[in-house]
Amino acid sequence: MSSISSDRLCVVPGSAHRVLAADVARELNVSLADAEVTAFADGETRVHIAWDVREATAVIVQPTPTPVNDHLMALALLADATRAAGAARVVAVAPYLGYARQEQRGSLGDPRSAQVVARLLGAVGVDHLVTLDLHAPALESSFPMPATLLRADEVIVPAVQRWGLRELIVVAPDAGGLKRAQRHAAALGAPVAVVAKERPRSDAAAHLQVLGEVRGRVCLIVDDMASTGRTLAGAAEALRRAGAREVHAAFTHAVMAPGAMEQIGAARFGRVLTTDSIPVAAPPWLEVARVAPLLAQAVRHLCGRE
Ligand code: R5P
Repeated sequence: MSSISSDRLCVVPGSAHRVLAADVARELNVSLADAEVTAFADGETRVHIAWDVREATAVIVQPTPTPVNDHLMALALLADATRAAGAARVVAVAPYLGYARQEQRGSLGDPRSAQVVARLLGAVGVDHLVTLDLHAPALESSFPMPATLLRADEVIVPAVQRWGLRELIVVAPDAGGLKRAQRHAAALGAPVAVVAKERPRSDAAAHLQVLGEVRGRVCLIVDDMASTGRTLAGAAEALRRAGAREVHAAFTHAVMAPGAMEQIGAARFGRVLTTDSIPVAAPPWLEVARVAPLLAQAVRHLCGRE
């Protein structure tokens, strides 16, 4: 991990999650810069930083939930504004980074969208990227800047331990989530199962079979995000069909496309946990864990302030 040294440190809040930016600033015990993100009448994003960031390490906190493109553009403009205002270093903290699921070309004629986003952030002067549970960690090798790839395990595992579940088995809702499930299973001292998922088309999930013995067990599905909620709901259904006694879920990013909350709410989970990497209006059944301590720890490490 590269080291950034500066006597001055400030947190620049983006438009996507001011509560998280304030939480990170509080954790770091530093000022929250005065940054404005608005839009011109035609929809163009306009940002202005009314704060002295000269010679400072400017930590821009801006995940990119929906509207993804607006938040991404605001992040790019904030990076350019802080750089142009004389910041010594620009650190982008985007705990949820959009487009990360589009890291491979499905067929000739498709873009490599995730790489385009990374190049854009490099081009506007981001020196270091901090992100959380990046959908495809291998993407890091194509980033033009060094990156800190955090994992939400540190907040999810203790929260699940507090639930006191017995006869637990950790379940990956698809083959791509197996490594994550294995890590959680090791930390929780539980075995692992996988649901074989087939996508008939993007944004649709059909679940075929459960690989692993879940009959009579208490299942915890872990995933990096819920977008439509169909993966979680479908996996829960498959587990019940396979004889699971209880099904719980934990996912890092509450992307929550329209209808997702209803989809997950109707899936008869015991407990459901997410994080505040994205602002979430949580109904009473949804537990939300704070990620600011984790993000602040990463920034402290970068600045040699540990
Ligand atoms: C897929 O590879 C991801 O890890 C998630 O399982 C997926 O993006 C969730 O999407 P949805 O909620 O739309 O099923």
